[in-house]
Amino acid sequence: MIDTHCHLNDVQFNNDLDKVINDFFLLGGNAIICVSADFISSIKSKQIADINDNIYYTIGIHPDDCDTYNQSEIEDLILTKSDKLVAIGEIGLDYFHNKSNRAKQIEVFVSQINLAIKYNLPIIIHCREAYNDVLNILKEYYPLKIGVVMHCYSGSLEYAKELIKLGVKISFTGNVTYKNSIKAKEVAKNIPIDSLFFETDAPYLTPEPNRGKRNEPKFVFDTAKFVADLRGVSVEDIIKITDFNAKKFFNISF
Ligand code: NI
Repeated sequence: MIDTHCHLNDVQFNNDLDKVINDFFLLGGNAIICVSADFISSIKSKQIADINDNIYYTIGIHPDDCDTYNQSEIEDLILTKSDKLVAIGEIGLDYFHNKSNRAKQIEVFVSQINLAIKYNLPIIIHCREAYNDVLNILKEYYPLKIGVVMHCYSGSLEYAKELIKLGVKISFTGNVTYKNSIKAKEVAKNIPIDSLFFETDAPYLTPEPNRGKRNEPKFVFDTAKFVADLRGVSVEDIIKITDFNAKKFFNISF
């Protein structure tokens, strides 16, 4: 089982990071993608990946931090990468947190897509209340030369279908297990299984039945189990298939 999106670089893991990682592997976890959101976390993610087996990392500036974006700074990080760099992310558009700087968000998003294409890396997209713009930007790049995954998907089934037509993957966090997440459940139940990814987004978005606690990679199994039940398949099968999807996407093996 892979946790395809986790912020091991978050301050909430400062005191017990080794235990958090070990607990996941003890439960049968195989790999964690440590995802970055700004310049500092991009450096920290590499450090974590450097000293831990089966932990990979990403570089990227989240739309909430688009004002701090400096293309050459990010390109320098890519140029000094280790072989455990597996994606650019999380990048994207967030009109829920900030509606006033859309042009800047789009500029930074597009710049990072271009870097990902230049260095042949997949991208992890953060999108909130911006599905139209994300879809239109991705269409301009069609056919996509790199892998694209929509992290913590919260859009409609219609948008999911449009995205999947472009070859985009759809990833769920614990969000899909929440009682009020009607749309996410509909999408998780109905999309082709080869488009499906699982992640925690830890320390945020803890799946049921542990909602309210700090999230950790080990809880990704709860999300997989929940979606397996939704789809009427075994948890073993859904893990096998989504692991295959993620290994191919991030070009990792275990
Ligand atoms: Ni995240």
